[in-house]
Amino acid sequence: MCGIIGVLGNHEVSPLLVESLKRLEYRGYDSAGIATVNNGKLDRRRAVGKLWNLSDLLVHEPLAGKSGIGHTRWATHGAATEGNAHPHRSGPVAVVHNGIIENFRELRAELAEAGITPETQTDTETVALLTRMFMDRGMDARAAAVETLGKLEGAFALLWLFDGEDDLMIAARKGSPLAIGHGDGEMFVGSDAIALAPMTDRITYLEEGDYAFITRAGAEIFDAAGRRANRDEQRIDLGQAQVEKGGYKHFMAKEIAEQPVVLADALRHYLPATGLNLPADLDFSNIDRIILIACGTAHYACAVAKYWFEEFARIPCEIDVASEFRYREPPLSERSLAIFVSQSGETADTLAALRYCSENVAKTVAVVNVPSSSIAREADIALPILAGVEVGVASTKAFTAQLLVLAVMALQAGRDRGQIDDATLAAHTEALRSLPGLLNQAMGLSEPIAKLAESLAEAQDILFLGRGPMYPLALEGALKLKEISYIHAEGYASGELKHGPIALIDRSVPVIVMAPHDRLFDKTVSNMQEVMARHGMVLLASDAKGLSVAGDGTWATLQMPEIAEPFAPILYAIPAQLLAYHTAVAKGTDVDQPRNLAKSVTVE
Ligand code: M6R
Repeated sequence: MCGIIGVLGNHEVSPLLVESLKRLEYRGYDSAGIATVNNGKLDRRRAVGKLWNLSDLLVHEPLAGKSGIGHTRWATHGAATEGNAHPHRSGPVAVVHNGIIENFRELRAELAEAGITPETQTDTETVALLTRMFMDRGMDARAAAVETLGKLEGAFALLWLFDGEDDLMIAARKGSPLAIGHGDGEMFVGSDAIALAPMTDRITYLEEGDYAFITRAGAEIFDAAGRRANRDEQRIDLGQAQVEKGGYKHFMAKEIAEQPVVLADALRHYLPATGLNLPADLDFSNIDRIILIACGTAHYACAVAKYWFEEFARIPCEIDVASEFRYREPPLSERSLAIFVSQSGETADTLAALRYCSENVAKTVAVVNVPSSSIAREADIALPILAGVEVGVASTKAFTAQLLVLAVMALQAGRDRGQIDDATLAAHTEALRSLPGLLNQAMGLSEPIAKLAESLAEAQDILFLGRGPMYPLALEGALKLKEISYIHAEGYASGELKHGPIALIDRSVPVIVMAPHDRLFDKTVSNMQEVMARHGMVLLASDAKGLSVAGDGTWATLQMPEIAEPFAPILYAIPAQLLAYHTAVAKGTDVDQPRNLAKSVTVE
């Protein structure tokens, strides 16, 4: 979602702001803007659409100054127009904002009583208007910002800049992350460390409720109660913050290709030669229920993991999408273990679900890609998936890395509960260790898939079918395809086909069947036959054995390497991702930043 950058520098800041915003493009946005203070004078430039529009504007209407803030906006309140773009300004105040000010209507009413009328449709403008109102009443910038903060409800990260103040930014965090970067006589603020990576590797993360007065001399940080707070300065690994395409046409292509290495790294950590390696306080023996909660692709990773926890540990396991779970307020017990899966670790609904659980279950566990994220910090135990920065909006390497960590957890649960014998455990760990090699082989399908994708790109609707743990993979395949190619796609459990979706089948509907030759294979083949009997266009992804039994009469086949049955979804994620990727490329869509989508969904 929106991205924030702020710089109190020693050089002209506009180019740096735009460059930093480029590093935040991956979060998703539909307008952008910057404001600077030059010799005490505040000014701003904003443009709709991609950042090059803002760059073009700055060529014709440059903005001087060594202090500045910038923003990429993903529209929530009000359309993507220049007027609604950030920074929002009122008199001496400019502000950029991530998140939502939930009580902005009440605040507008309060402002109206004071004779102040907003000019935009945004919730953010309220912040600028309030701050100015307090300054008009005699407060200085610092006091006015703090007074404003006291009135705001919702989840937000805010950054203020002021006319007449060349050496001041005010930052605040409540619900949306914000990082302060330390330079030599320079200071920076970013909505994540990626934005700051070229400028500094010395970062301080603001905590929930913190606000900070930032000058070139440093940052004074206060907690929600207004007390001075000491927050650690950390060195971040700049390698981890690299966001280069590395010769690939798209980040998504690079991230798909990285998966063998990502899984090898995660295996080294979680499954070294000595066996399963999870924190000692993650103990499944006294648990009577597991709840897995997430959104989107991470939810489908949970759905796969349900099969594993039930099979390996024989433990009841529920899955839920976070946005439903949090408002359903389900009964919990002290013998439940709640697992929250999130690439970004900032997804608003998942975070809210975690907060709902935190007092009421035995333990909360976060499976995240960003170890400094809110979800990682608020859970009792955080397990990093070690996938490295994922830039493409469509999650790929995070999905398979989440699956790997969840598989190791399920095996550990089986062992803790005495449900898995040593031989089976050894066979499963061996199978997991073979994954990097197998994923590498599957990457060889990229070329044939690119050819098939030319036909798939013509389709209006595409169905994905799978059984057992391949059912959630069918859901994931459909999500991947629809989000980047904009083709309508649905995933179904193969057995559900004749309960409705078969009505859709005709010559024009490709049906992608993900089916390794496992114990349910024959049943899936029957479902596939039903599709072919109605002239459906079947694409079967299976291993050599499966294709020899059922490949005849299909529109196309993809030969996959053999894989131990439970872990097939990890391997078959590769063709699912490649099908989506190449179809989107064939259609010419914006693969890395598909329309309307944001990488990190920090609002409900
Ligand atoms: O950062 P998270 O894993 O919590 O994000 C959850 C979903 O928003 C995310 O997986 C989304 O569905 C992706 N666009 C899928 O490719």
